[in-house]
Amino acid sequence: MTRTHAHVYLAFGSNLGDRRENIAEGLAMLHESGQVKVTEVSSLYETEPVGYTQQGLFLNAVARVETDLSPLDLLSLCKDVEVRVGRKPTVRWGPRILDIDILMYFAESDDTLLSGLGNSGEDGTEVKMDTPTLTLPHPRIWERGFVIIPLAEVNPDLVIPDGRRIKSLIQDLQVWTGLRLFEAAPWWHYADQNRKGWQVTRFTEVESTNTIAANLASVGATEGTCVIAETQSAGRGRRGRVWHSPPGGLWLSILLRPTIQSQDVGRLSLIAGVAVSSAIRETFQLPAVVKWPNDVLISGKKVCGILPETRFLGDKMDFAIVGIGVNVAIDTDLLPLDVKETSATLLSPDYPYASGAREALTASILNNFSRLYKQFLSEGFLEILQEVREYCDTLGREVTVSRLGMPIQGIAVDIDSDARLIIRTKSGEDVHVISGEVSIGVPGAG
Ligand code: BTN
Repeated sequence: MTRTHAHVYLAFGSNLGDRRENIAEGLAMLHESGQVKVTEVSSLYETEPVGYTQQGLFLNAVARVETDLSPLDLLSLCKDVEVRVGRKPTVRWGPRILDIDILMYFAESDDTLLSGLGNSGEDGTEVKMDTPTLTLPHPRIWERGFVIIPLAEVNPDLVIPDGRRIKSLIQDLQVWTGLRLFEAAPWWHYADQNRKGWQVTRFTEVESTNTIAANLASVGATEGTCVIAETQSAGRGRRGRVWHSPPGGLWLSILLRPTIQSQDVGRLSLIAGVAVSSAIRETFQLPAVVKWPNDVLISGKKVCGILPETRFLGDKMDFAIVGIGVNVAIDTDLLPLDVKETSATLLSPDYPYASGAREALTASILNNFSRLYKQFLSEGFLEILQEVREYCDTLGREVTVSRLGMPIQGIAVDIDSDARLIIRTKSGEDVHVISGEVSIGVPGAG
């Protein structure tokens, strides 16, 4: 059988229960099926019901997805997701709370079994079909604003069944009647199973997100409480340094309540470094690496710093806070000269989509971090050490680390199961360093 890689436009609607959550969950279930990749999601629009009007207002959105499923298999997955979202205990006997419609299906393959191939375009060849269960393209809804407007956001050049480009239709005010923007894109970011129940609290300005997360912890906040601020007036760096936190950066703290020992904290910050590096690679295709123990660099310049802080009650850990600062789109001229020289920003501060990019990066960091953290708790650090090694650019380099004021020089050969850096000195001795400031190279050399 031919593999049918397809680009598909799906419409989502909900008018019962937590409508935003229903659509978000439907998208997540599709994505988590592993058979559908959600590549773009429109804003959410609130619309008045059409036809039977004695019901609540709808929320609608459109998504573009990629899949190898045939149209009919995709339809049955969508129906299954509708049912699973609708099976929430609050709406036991209630009507459906989520509708997912396939609007258009474009196949990249030349599988003639798909039959009735229509227009070809950037998305592939449009599939047309008419069966008792599925008609493609969707037969009825092309005059409705709640489909046209979100679809035009996702792909303005799409040609709809009557031959017009979708972007030309939204010029007409008529299309906007009975509809309002409920929440602008990007509102949906894939949150994987590992961080189900994690909550993000956002502030405009705080002294330090680590302090707010610690305060929340003291009043009973649970694991996975995340604090994000637009700016920090007294951001903290390691070794008592100031962490400059102008607008445009990601200033994030994650509250954790693991039953671990104090020496495990080094492991947590390495895990965070890997999570951030892989998120930067995924989101921006930039070659981010971890500099042991706590930094993320691109081309030798620091783009992220990590500050783990803990509180113990006796010998038992009450909580740990992992503070993560990423220069996403900051004005580096606002940094002091010495910091500016060694730092970089991922995007220029006037990049027009910076806030969307920051949201996507945040989601990716939290997904990666929660996955690694869960694996660390269930299987131990050794299981993720290989992944850590792959991201850690310090390994194999000539380094100098200051320990108790004494410089240790040698080649960083490995990281041990306690997250310590192993430095092989000239005399052939392996020194395991728990923490410290690493300089790459030998001081005074070249
Ligand atoms: C370092 O490299 O020195 C660590 C910097 C850590 C900065 C982050 S930003 C979010 C969190 N809140 C803080 O006050 N610090 C951390």
